[in-house]
Amino acid sequence: MSRKVLVIGSGGREHALVRQLAASPRQPQLFAAPGNPGTAEFAANMDLDPADADAVTAFCRQEGIDLVVVGPEDPLIAGLADHLRREDIAVFGPGAMGARLEGDKEFAKEVLVAAGVATAHFHAFSSTDAALKHLDKMDLPVVVKAVGAAQGKGVAVCSNRDEAEAHIRLCLDDQQFGQSGLRILLEDCLFGPELSVLIVTDGQDYCLLAPSRDHKRIGEQDTGPNTGGMGAFAPVELPADLHQEIDTRIVLPVLAELRRRDIPYRGVLYAGLMLTDQGPSVLEFNCRFGDPETQVVLPLLKNDLLDLCTATAEGALGAYLQGLRRTAEGAPAGWPGADLTDWKRSAVVVVGAADGYPGHYTKGKTVELPTAGEDDRWVIHAGTARKDEVLVTSGGRVLGAVGTGGDLEAARGAAYGLLDGTHFEGLTFRRDIAAAGKEDKGEKA
Ligand code: AMP
Ligand code: GLY
Repeated sequence: MSRKVLVIGSGGREHALVRQLAASPRQPQLFAAPGNPGTAEFAANMDLDPADADAVTAFCRQEGIDLVVVGPEDPLIAGLADHLRREDIAVFGPGAMGARLEGDKEFAKEVLVAAGVATAHFHAFSSTDAALKHLDKMDLPVVVKAVGAAQGKGVAVCSNRDEAEAHIRLCLDDQQFGQSGLRILLEDCLFGPELSVLIVTDGQDYCLLAPSRDHKRIGEQDTGPNTGGMGAFAPVELPADLHQEIDTRIVLPVLAELRRRDIPYRGVLYAGLMLTDQGPSVLEFNCRFGDPETQVVLPLLKNDLLDLCTATAEGALGAYLQGLRRTAEGAPAGWPGADLTDWKRSAVVVVGAADGYPGHYTKGKTVELPTAGEDDRWVIHAGTARKDEVLVTSGGRVLGAVGTGGDLEAARGAAYGLLDGTHFEGLTFRRDIAAAGKEDKGEKA
């Protein structure tokens, strides 16, 4: 009997998840809640609010859902996975205790420090006066972070004191981020290329997906404000000793610290790293797949995503990984543990955004997509909607053009080729996504 899988969320990441699950040889019956016009190609979109745990649980029982894959952080932080597990429904995604690694940056720091993992020096404040006094003692640039989740807008890398003071006041005085910003971290600024490491774990065992790199700034050459991510590529080529270092100095100690604290974790732990001259340092954790990293990491999987998610959700990841064969030409030197990536391929996603994003932008513009036909490229929907059968823009990041190929250049060509056939009024995108990939140059903070 085919398995029934519900994917929670409505963005590009969820379209990518649904698309990959649909390719499973097990031919699952897919549902998305609430989904988007992209997920609708593979799944039945359900009019369910991910914040309403009772409604989601009732739907799962009524439909006989075998597995729930939770995309976004908010429902995880709010405890949706705990709610479902209490009803014996298998969930890929951590409970509220594990999701706190993303929902509370001060807690994440506490875990990192206890685990002895490298991370930027920091101090936490609830009072503006105390924060400003401490700011005077810090070297510039300085990083100001709302401790709670703020849709990626709570972090400011400030090159001068005025900027830092403004962000401190935005959080503590103006309460721009509500509860999330009532406590802040002042953090030393780190320098180097960034790296996104997706750790799939059931709390006991784990495997790493292909290392990827996001492009956070709106402007080419990494200029302008931070966004939710303007593009990404995978895999990022790394020296062998760095694979080992990430494994032994970051992944193993963090997972051990979670076990020491009796924090169960079944899902993806996303470690955002800065590759500094002194070695990799953790910038932050997310309790879910990255967006847009998922769009490039999943197409490189050589194993079935459904099996991986099911084993993780059921706490049987160790047995699953043991069953995988490591191919001879597989992983790069130094790769830790099981290998699920087809390293002979690369993937690039370029985000097509609405003019004005990440500031003010207009919605409701008619979207024209390239005609389908080539299997090395596809469009991922992020902020689109159907209005009277017409596809229109409904968000700042409207879509992602994904290209794959035998190397990064081929994948880039495929992704940008797709954008030639994509039109909506105000379409903007960066032309330099993955351009520095070969030389392994990353974003400067
Ligand atoms: P987000 O993932 O949206 O919270 O974005 C955080 C981003 O802020 C990271 O990807 C980095 O680019 C930047 N960032 C965070 N902490 C630091 C730090 N200590 N030093 C330099 N940049 C940082
Ligand atoms: N790409 C960054 C994130 O998913 O938070």
